[in-house]
Amino acid sequence: MHRAPQPALGRAGDERGDVAERGDAAHGVGILGPTEGDHADREGGMGRMLEPQEIFAEVAAALGPKALSKKKVLITAGPTYEPIDTVRGVTNQSSGKMGYAVAQAAVEAGAQVTLVSGATALAAPPGVERVDVTTASDMHKAVMARAKQADVFISVAAVADYRPVDPKPHKIKRGNGNLKLELAPNPDILGEVAALPKGPFCVGFAAETEDLKANAQAKRKKKGIPLLAANLAHETFGKDTNALTLFDEDGMHELPLAPKIVLARQLVAHIAKMLPRR
Ligand code: C5P
Repeated sequence: MHRAPQPALGRAGDERGDVAERGDAAHGVGILGPTEGDHADREGGMGRMLEPQEIFAEVAAALGPKALSKKKVLITAGPTYEPIDTVRGVTNQSSGKMGYAVAQAAVEAGAQVTLVSGATALAAPPGVERVDVTTASDMHKAVMARAKQADVFISVAAVADYRPVDPKPHKIKRGNGNLKLELAPNPDILGEVAALPKGPFCVGFAAETEDLKANAQAKRKKKGIPLLAANLAHETFGKDTNALTLFDEDGMHELPLAPKIVLARQLVAHIAKMLPRR
């Protein structure tokens, strides 16, 4: 273990570069931290060692048994963007953080991961193949081209349910009256993958604003999927933490408030446990 320096002694970036010279992921060497927080010199800032329990969780994840070894996992993440004209569109507040965390947890579990991602500000976790898409139709094509080869499909993306029927090839000018926007339904990507004969094990997400439990269990059955992770929209969109309730044929499993990567690892462990039962 290498202790992080206090900020006055060296900036985190320099330190990471220094450590990185002595080892890299290809040789099984990872760097944990430094992170932000208080320091002995009271200056604070970047350069604090991770908490021991965080180090323990990271090491356990790195050295533990690989629950999804040799499995191909296809994941969607982030928002979709449906153009109204050349500069405007319909989208939502999904940051992609939950889907990217699930991708990282799946890689840690030994899976071969493809992440079909709407526009986000995030970097793909190391070892993940990322396919960038914009609209729900793009996402639908990218997913359907890969779904049959996948063992597991985890649909985390906040897919826009509707798209403008007639996106204009120029910027719409302001007029005096109301502007009507006609919307057509987008394909239900998860529903289609779940209906594939010999398709992958499907996991859905549901962001609800109310009545989480009743809505989520109904949604799992309607979509015909074995596992659904439900969360409250206001607790997850844009946040680094979340709380999930998993619904499967055995009932309900609560995963209490935690960083998204912690929940993602718990979700991946749950999926891995369900796989042999298929
Ligand atoms: O019905 P609802 O949109 O809440 O379902 C959410 C789940 O369905 C998520 O897993 C989401 O990724 C997926 N979905 C989809 N295609 C859509 C809408 C939602 O795959 N058009």
